[in-house]
Amino acid sequence: MIIRASKGLTFEDVLLVPRRSSITSRQQVDTSTRLTEKIRINIPVISANMDTVTETAMAIAMAKVGGIGIIHRFMPIDLHVKQIKQVKRAQAVMVENPYTININANVEQVRESMRRYHVGGLVVTDENGKVMGIITTRDINLVPDNLKLVKEIMTGLDRLVTIKANFMLEEARRLLFENRIEKLPVVNPDGTLRGLITAQDVLKPLKNPFAALDEKGRLRVGAAIGVTHGEMERAAALLEAGADVLVLDIAHGHADHCVNMVRELRKQFPNSQIIAGNVASREGAQELAEAGADAIKVGIGPGSICTTRLVTGFGVPQLTAIIDSAQGVKDSGRNIPLIADGGIQKAGDMVKALAAGAETVMIGSMFAGTEEAPGSPVIRDGQKVKVVRGMASLAATMGRRISEQNHDESAEDSEDWMKVVPEGVEAVVPYRGNVGEVLHQLIGGLRSGLSYGGAHNIFELQENAEFIEITPAGIRESGSHDVKRL
Ligand code: XMP
Repeated sequence: MIIRASKGLTFEDVLLVPRRSSITSRQQVDTSTRLTEKIRINIPVISANMDTVTETAMAIAMAKVGGIGIIHRFMPIDLHVKQIKQVKRAQAVMVENPYTININANVEQVRESMRRYHVGGLVVTDENGKVMGIITTRDINLVPDNLKLVKEIMTGLDRLVTIKANFMLEEARRLLFENRIEKLPVVNPDGTLRGLITAQDVLKPLKNPFAALDEKGRLRVGAAIGVTHGEMERAAALLEAGADVLVLDIAHGHADHCVNMVRELRKQFPNSQIIAGNVASREGAQELAEAGADAIKVGIGPGSICTTRLVTGFGVPQLTAIIDSAQGVKDSGRNIPLIADGGIQKAGDMVKALAAGAETVMIGSMFAGTEEAPGSPVIRDGQKVKVVRGMASLAATMGRRISEQNHDESAEDSEDWMKVVPEGVEAVVPYRGNVGEVLHQLIGGLRSGLSYGGAHNIFELQENAEFIEITPAGIRESGSHDVKRL
């Protein structure tokens, strides 16, 4: 048996000592950070993979302001894939299924199609769907003969500029600019049409300059997976649908099945980004890093709806868990980021988590009350509220079992529900409007925090950080006190 001499600390137990600062405006600081070894996002905030927090709407809203949402895994694979695709399409640069016209059509038919679909250009295809050219209003405006054939006046393959289906946004922008063209057909390897990019579409990402975008200019999104039978198949389908990152999410991540799954994912999908967790110890973080994870999620029991520590007696206060895990990653010899998952209720908690060594924070209940979280608000005691539930709560576990039974004859029968030992609760949180508003407050706090820390960015915040442990009197002094709040 070991009894640690040092105390385990959490956010409320400490404050950060202010540092000399040369920052004169909150705008001078950089809030960008690493989500994984290879993915950067513009704000260090991730919405939790919980079924009362992140589905399509939340993931879209998070990515638009520069963070990312992780869509939970408690749904059939086809629905999970559909949600990922919806996020990817939400701000897509490429139009899928653009309007086409057959190469043997005539000018009259082109005019008719353009009028009907309100477009200024049509991709020309042959009977097999192969791209043969493009025709725009410029080509037909001055043609006197309505029966003239498309193939006689279109921009044909000899002059047509196209781009491959796996294009990068920058390449599309360059081709449109260098060739002074308005439309760029996207072509599959077999010559069939994949989509169309217009000059206007390429400008879309500039409208949300902070958004988290992939190389194709689409919003970034992550997806959670588990370790049970069928999850490898889920992983493959999610990556194929465009998920930027997989989050292997196990309550106790420092376990054989989690470590083995990270190794297997690494082997089967060598180019994918994999987040693994949760852990709360130096050894746990080290082992997942050595197994090949691209980021480690830290937190056993700090979440607002978690009862793991009460039910099992296990857990590590979150600030200590972050500091220990950061050491574990160092021990592994890898330079991968940590995600502090759970227990963030105030902007100051986030600043402390980042200063302690995390590069992002994952948030559940604080976002569960927002418009974008799944479910509708209800009125409780005259107040507008939304439901949040721990993924190991009785309600969530029973819900999953019912859905598993519907999909799998061999799933446990109803008597087994009696055996559920919940490690989370179901609760209500105040309705908080749009998540963008909540994030605005959080990021405002972070910008101020960086300035107090004499830091231009999160890396400098960590370098400069000095924590001071405080007493219950210090905690009392830290909030508003001895006044009657309005
Ligand atoms: P917050 O505090 O942001 O925490 O609501 C969200 C995180 O809590 C974890 N989580 C659970 N932990 N039992 C637990 O012990 C549960 O039922 C449960 N559900 C969610 C999870 O890591 C999430 O991101």
